[in-house]
Amino acid sequence: MLRAALLTAFAVVATTVAADPPITSTGGMVVSVSPPATDVGVATLKAGGNAVDAAVAVAFAEAVTWPEAGNIGGGGFMLVWPGDGKEPVFIDYRETAPAKATAEMFAKGVNYQSAVTAGVPGTVRGLELAHAKFGKLKWKELVAPAVKLADGFAVTAGLAKRLNGVLTDKKTTNAEFRRVFGKVGGWKAGDVLKQPDLAKTLQAVADGGADAFYTGKVAEQIVAEMTASNGLISAADLKGYTAKVRKPVHGTYRGYDIYGPSPPSSGGIAVIEMLNMLELQDVKAHPWASVETAHLMAEVMRRAFADRAVHLGDADFVKVPTHLVSKDHAKSLMATFDPDKATRSDALAPEIDVKDGTNTTHFSIIDKSGMAVSNTYTLENSFGCRVVVRGAGFILNNEMTDFNHRPGVTTKAGGIGTLPNQIAPGKRMLSSMTPTLVAKDGKLRLVTGSPGGRTIINTVLGVIVNVIDYGADVQAAVDAPRLHHQWFPERISAEDRPGFAEFEKALKAKGHAVVKHRQGDAHSIAIDPKTGLRTAGVDKRLDGKGAGTE
Ligand code: DON
Repeated sequence: MLRAALLTAFAVVATTVAADPPITSTGGMVVSVSPPATDVGVATLKAGGNAVDAAVAVAFAEAVTWPEAGNIGGGGFMLVWPGDGKEPVFIDYRETAPAKATAEMFAKGVNYQSAVTAGVPGTVRGLELAHAKFGKLKWKELVAPAVKLADGFAVTAGLAKRLNGVLTDKKTTNAEFRRVFGKVGGWKAGDVLKQPDLAKTLQAVADGGADAFYTGKVAEQIVAEMTASNGLISAADLKGYTAKVRKPVHGTYRGYDIYGPSPPSSGGIAVIEMLNMLELQDVKAHPWASVETAHLMAEVMRRAFADRAVHLGDADFVKVPTHLVSKDHAKSLMATFDPDKATRSDALAPEIDVKDGTNTTHFSIIDKSGMAVSNTYTLENSFGCRVVVRGAGFILNNEMTDFNHRPGVTTKAGGIGTLPNQIAPGKRMLSSMTPTLVAKDGKLRLVTGSPGGRTIINTVLGVIVNVIDYGADVQAAVDAPRLHHQWFPERISAEDRPGFAEFEKALKAKGHAVVKHRQGDAHSIAIDPKTGLRTAGVDKRLDGKGAGTE
């Protein structure tokens, strides 16, 4: 019913969806942005692998088939629902700042397309840790499909367009990037991208495990690249990198359990903080796409993002207060909520003197037994810092730019200069990546997450609210038009919807600035509590494929 209502209300987003029957499975399921990677995941499940095996295989595959964000030169977060009544586990494989990094290194400006922005990559260690803890199949078998794809795969129209875009951008100056990804005359759908250097690197990782990357030949190649390109990562930084098992942050919302990534992610805390605020309101009194709900959402987002700026950073380095996710804190934040009028953002953090794509990717997996993985990983910008490690075939991240650039300088344009996320050697930069698991009465109900920088947090919030408050099926929840507010800049960014002009006008009357913007890419899975049936929420904003094993 609600799906039908959403389809009528949001005809623009929903036209393609209406024609497609839901994708369901009684067994395993994989939903990712990259069709060949989804196929690898499904094949891994069919070969007897569990959800974590499939996640490792998909992550390596996307490092080949989705080079703008899939990676071995970046980092990310994986949330595992082990099933069998066991507590969810958070695997943190976020990059770290190299030992030579300093708090002031970007204070005078930063070139995002330079090797100095690369943090110590975490992906390969993270996948190894996930596999060691949960995997069933042999590591080598999980890397093998990626090696095969690196030998050559047909690019989609979307990838061709994005490759042509990055290659024609004058800011792409790295010769190795152009050698590896360039094509005379440009790319078109169906052309075969061969990545022989990446195939060799992946084969080394398949044979030698993560050590091949962190202490072996690949490490030497990374260090040589740093010397040639003025980067900071040393052999000691690589050798010392560890992925970490952490306790996910946990909250409740209208009887559901919400599990998200704890710091260095800001996403888990922010989503729970926002849900706590929303729990005090009758959200479904107004439709999701209404002006009233947009105003409420924006006000809740504004408050959580102010707390994010004030308090959040790598908890191994700074003390993150525990009260942020408490129900009492939500009550005090909502005491100033006015249904008719936007709150001014600077009133929310008076202690701060305020003068602030396709770049990350999320996939969701469940296996037949009920073990599930919610994984988001990134190079930060699309194609990271656009520096390919010479001879190794992979792109380095520019994740260091997720640290606060100018200590002490927080701006109305959205720049944050607060202490918790200042650069320090070995520290993990604050992230917005929010792979999330939603359960009820001990049963997993939803696996979700998204790319999109700070918008990630609000994309995830929107999917959860659509499912829990509006009873939307997962595909409708993924299709629903999205909304973002991040405290500063003081404006709502909203996806297109029928009647956008009136929507914008009514929000302006409440004191909001509004911009139109596409948001996120939230490949999700919902599980029916009675039948166990899995349903895909495939996000078609970019590309995407959901498929089941049976
Ligand atoms: O970790 C973060 O929050 C960012 N590096 C993510 C970047 C991102 O999602 C850009 N994507 N579209």
